[in-house]
Amino acid sequence: MASESLLSVSGLNQFYGESHTLWDLTLDVTEGQCTCLMGRNGVGKTTLLQCVMGLLPVKSGAVMFKGLDLTRVSAERRAGLGIGYVPQGRQIFPLLTVKENLEIGLPNRKDGARNVPDFIYELFPVLKEMLGRRGGDLSGGQQQQLAIGRALVVDPSLLILDEPTEGIQPNIVHEIGDIIRRLNSEIGLTVLLVEQKLPFARRVADRFCLLDRGRAVATGVMAELNDSLVNQYLTV
Ligand SMILES: Nc1ncnc2c1ncn2[C@@H]1O[C@H](COP(=O)(O)OP(=O)(O)O)[C@@H](O)[C@H]1O
Ligand SMILES: [Mg+2]
Repeated sequence: MASESLLSVSGLNQFYGESHTLWDLTLDVTEGQCTCLMGRNGVGKTTLLQCVMGLLPVKSGAVMFKGLDLTRVSAERRAGLGIGYVPQGRQIFPLLTVKENLEIGLPNRKDGARNVPDFIYELFPVLKEMLGRRGGDLSGGQQQQLAIGRALVVDPSLLILDEPTEGIQPNIVHEIGDIIRRLNSEIGLTVLLVEQKLPFARRVADRFCLLDRGRAVATGVMAELNDSLVNQYLTV
């Protein structure tokens, strides 16, 4: 039986000025699964996510989410459709408090909730302890937890994370892996993850999609990511 795609990118072409960066790109994110987008630095992973979020214009192609073509939906409205986005480098607001950073997502909630849901503090107890602290005063790992918490505030059905373990201490990396797995298996969130750390990707993801120079070159279940693909497309 064919599984349903929650997010489906097809024939996507994107340019930075004259530079053709994404080429006829196709990506399917199966509902209920964690898909890992992989590839060396500079192959276009972040660019693809920014196209999905509407932060970059695309030249052609479709980005379907729940049967809706997102390329016709403004960036502001995409989060409200149920997409949580954790950008590369976290991009939390350094001068706002932890609480204020979290509350930024509230207006995008369909249920009109005025408070940050408790389960976010249960997932990240450290955020509850630091509600009044400025975002910029948190450690890298704490900022990453804040960025994930902030993405969850919109009550997403799809969570997109761009290199959430980049520059983070190993013990927090493991914790973030546990959180992603819990969100995926217990809450049923569909996840699209960009990750370069192979052991982390193998532990957390069900499927992979490999990019090389702006093209999708291989896709499959994680067990099919063999040494030959790793050597050709991932190791430096
Ligand atoms: N704002 C930009 N303007 C021009 N070129 C860019 C810009 N951002 C990224 N690029 C280029 O696009 C390519 C893909 O970058 P990126 O999507 O960041 O790759 P990845 O996330 O896989 O490391 C790279 O060659 C990069 O130099
Ligand atoms: Mg990137």
